[in-house]
Amino acid sequence: MNSFFFLTPIFLFSLTIVSLRAPALSLEKSVDLIKKTCKKTPYHDLCVSSLRSYPGSSGATVHDLAGIMLNLTLANATDTLSFIQVLINQTEDPQLEMPLDYCAELYIPVVKYTLPQAIVAFDKSQYGFAEYGVSDAGDQADTCEKQLSKSMASSPLGDRNKLVSELCDVAVAIIKMLQQG
Ligand SMILES: *[C@@H]1O[C@H](CO)[C@@H](O)[C@H](O)[C@H]1NC(C)=O
Ligand SMILES: *[C@@H]1O[C@H](CO)[C@@H](O)[C@H](O)[C@H]1NC(C)=O
Ligand SMILES: *[C@@H]1O[C@H](CO)[C@@H](O)[C@H](O)[C@H]1NC(C)=O
Repeated sequence: MNSFFFLTPIFLFSLTIVSLRAPALSLEKSVDLIKKTCKKTPYHDLCVSSLRSYPGSSGATVHDLAGIMLNLTLANATDTLSFIQVLINQTEDPQLEMPLDYCAELYIPVVKYTLPQAIVAFDKSQYGFAEYGVSDAGDQADTCEKQLSKSMASSPLGDRNKLVSELCDVAVAIIKMLQQG
């Protein structure tokens, strides 16, 4: 091989191929990490779709993935609480309002304290505390759902409680991996 080769179009072309392939390969790797991580959680499909649709999840570490799940969980719980508050505002039926008031009482501390504090703890690598808060948040969503299903045939919250509860379970599972690792 003589030095002339390095200036040929073929050489430049191969350089371009190499540099184009590099980001594609790292994306593949992070998708694998999402898949691999989600396989060890109780809601595999929810975990994969949640993480993949989150901006910046490609190239994330397992620690980042747990942080993303915590953010999504807080966003969903916040959204659910606003939805409950809008329903309470709109209803004039005390039979419907009572269980909704009960749910708002459960969600307010989750959104204001439990999940934000879990996120602060997580950021300081206090995984046990973070896990405890997130499990508690999931329990509150389950409790709200039970109360609603006692009072009415179909939940006015749709599957929001179920989603919050499952997101909490996924977040807890990923935090557990960090504690073991
Ligand atoms: C709730 O979680 C789902 C599933 O990850 C996500 O697609 C959605 O954007 C979240 N909702 C909010 C309000 O953040
Ligand atoms: C979670 O949300 C906070 C605040 O919006 C943001 O600063 C942080 O980077 C997010 N964490 C991850 C892992 O995306
Ligand atoms: C409830 O209704 C009042 C009066 O219509 C309004 O000012 C308030 O913003 C509503 N709150 C929510 C959470 O929708």
